[in-house]
Amino acid sequence: MAITRIAVLIVHFILALINGVTCVTGDLLQRVEVPSFAFAGGRVNVSCMFDLRDTGLYSLKWYHNDTEFYRYVPTETHRPVDIKPTMKFQAHEVSRSETQVTLSITSMTSAATGEYKCEVIAEHPSFRTETRSVFMVVLDEPLAPPVITGARDMYESHDDIKLRCQPENFPASGPTPALTWFLQGRPARREYVSPYRDDPYAEPTGVTLHMPASQVSRGGGSVEAECLLKLGTHELRSSWTLRVRPRPSSYLSNYFSTAGVTTYPAYSVVVCSIIALTWLNS
Ligand SMILES: *[C@@H]1O[C@H](CO)[C@@H](O)[C@H](O)[C@H]1NC(C)=O
Ligand SMILES: *[C@@H]1O[C@H](CO)[C@@H](O)[C@H](O)[C@H]1NC(C)=O
Repeated sequence: MAITRIAVLIVHFILALINGVTCVTGDLLQRVEVPSFAFAGGRVNVSCMFDLRDTGLYSLKWYHNDTEFYRYVPTETHRPVDIKPTMKFQAHEVSRSETQVTLSITSMTSAATGEYKCEVIAEHPSFRTETRSVFMVVLDEPLAPPVITGARDMYESHDDIKLRCQPENFPASGPTPALTWFLQGRPARREYVSPYRDDPYAEPTGVTLHMPASQVSRGGGSVEAECLLKLGTHELRSSWTLRVRPRPSSYLSNYFSTAGVTTYPAYSVVVCSIIALTWLNS
């Protein structure tokens, strides 16, 4: 029983990720829009679009984990709209028309995670019923910028640069944010980027940027590496300036070695002269 339930949830979760915020459905119930994730304390809109054609609407209901929290029954003259309070979130009607009902869900806690289902029932005589649901995960922590590790303040031109970018404190059960590396504001070359795994058999938990420092030298010795974390419409960035120590050019090394050679004898001459003078004076 429990296993079946978990399997159903996993399937729903995968479907939610594939479908994103939209679930396109049959005739009566046209579309259900629910974001696949939200943040505790945040607000989201959920919409249910329907097309009744030549029949009327008998009722439209929203359920969370199979518990009804919104009901619209046009024939109910006394109270056509009924919103049941819950401890997990607050629901308000944002708009209602002949074709859709949009609710605003606010004051969410992580217990608001679950299946949001819209049910539309057509009028007598068919009482045709259609339902569609979308799974939404409510994350407890706000999104943090991604974490860059493995970076050094200064590289030598023969070094290998290897940086890792990972989300901070991301719940394993939640949706996976996308991570992208940029160099000087442009996506890094594909051959520099690879998934990072904590162990070879695990799912990737980050993205590695691996490139020769000589590329940075060619780029002028300093390149801005930026990691972008994207989850739905949320974007957060972290960056690191890659610096490669300038290699002395052949002109400079010739100059320095020549200077070294000329200075040393000159210095020796002075020291010898002082020793000679001291010796002569004594
Ligand atoms: C919800 O819908 C209302 C009305 O369309 C809009 O003003 C509001 O910005 C929406 N809220 C979110 C979180 O999308
Ligand atoms: C709804 O179901 C989801 C998935 O099992 C669960 O995480 C969540 O806590 C449930 N919420 C409530 C209030 O039952």
